Amino acid sequence: MENTLKFINQQTNNFKPEIGIILGSGLGELADEFCDVGINYSDIPDFASSTVAGHKGRLVFARINGKSNTTSPACPAPAGQPATSLSTKNVVMMQGRIHFYEGHLLNTVTYPIKVLKNLGIKTLILTNAAGAVNPEFKPADLMIIKDHINFMGTNPLIGKNDDNLGVRFPDMSEIYKKNLINLAKNCAEKLNIDVKEGVYIATTGPSYETPAEIRAYRLLGADAVGMSTVPEAIVANYCGLNVLGISCITNQAAGVGDTKLSHAEVIESANLAKNKFKGLIKEIIANL
Ligand code: HPA
Repeated sequence: MENTLKFINQQTNNFKPEIGIILGSGLGELADEFCDVGINYSDIPDFASSTVAGHKGRLVFARINGKSNTTSPACPAPAGQPATSLSTKNVVMMQGRIHFYEGHLLNTVTYPIKVLKNLGIKTLILTNAAGAVNPEFKPADLMIIKDHINFMGTNPLIGKNDDNLGVRFPDMSEIYKKNLINLAKNCAEKLNIDVKEGVYIATTGPSYETPAEIRAYRLLGADAVGMSTVPEAIVANYCGLNVLGISCITNQAAGVGDTKLSHAEVIESANLAKNKFKGLIKEIIANL
C-alpha cells in the first residue's frame, strides 16, 4: 500500500480526491471528458490490469464542477497538469474495473478501493452495466442500487482483518446510503431523467445466467444482475466510505426477453445511455 500511494502521489503531485467513481462497462467516457492526470493500472505498483473490452484500465484524477475541462482533453499520462480553475470537486475515477472472473482474488479486485480510501475519498460512486431481472426495466434505463445480494459465493473480507481499516464483522445494513439515494433521485428529477430503484445481485460470471437462474434471482428479490460492484461495495462500506451505486441496464436478463445475450449488446446499450448517465453523475458530483 505504501508503494502504491507513494507512486500515485508522485504522479498527481499529492492530489487529494474527495469522491471516487468506478466506471463500469461502456461508461468510461466520463474520465475522457474530465482528466487532469491519468495513470495506467499497469504502471501502478500492485494494481491488477483490466482485460475486458470497454474497460480502459486507467486511474484518472480530475477537478469537476459539471463543466467539461476543455484545457486538457488529451489527458497526459502519467505526469499531468495541475488542477484547472474551472473545477470545484476533487475526483478520482477508475476508468474500468478489475473483475473476479478475470481470475483475480477478491482481495486483488478490491485493492483499489482501499487505495482510494487511503487517498482520502469519503464518497464512492459505483457504476456498472447490468441485466434486467425485473421485467419492467428496459435497456438504457438507469437503476439506483438500494441494496445488493452477494451471490458470488465468497466475500472480499475473507482473510486476516486489517483493524486500521475496519472491524472483523462489519454491519452491512445500509451500504447504499439513503441520503445519497435521495440526492441521486433529486438530481435525476431535476434533469428529467427517469430512474429506477432496485436490488442488484452479483454472480461471478463470466457466463451469463440461464433463464432458470434469472427466475430464481427474481424470487430472491433481485431487480438487476451483474458480475461486479458487490465486492467493492462490501469493502467500501467496511472501511467507512459512503456508497452510491448506479446500474445502467444494458439488456433484459436471460429469459426475460427473447434475445440472446452478448457483450456487444451490453456495450451498445451502455452507449445509448451514456449521455444521461454522464449528466446524472455530473449533477450528483456538483451537489455532493
Ligand atoms: N448478466 C450478468 N451481467 C451482466 C448482464 C447480464 O445479463 N448484463 C450486463 N452485465
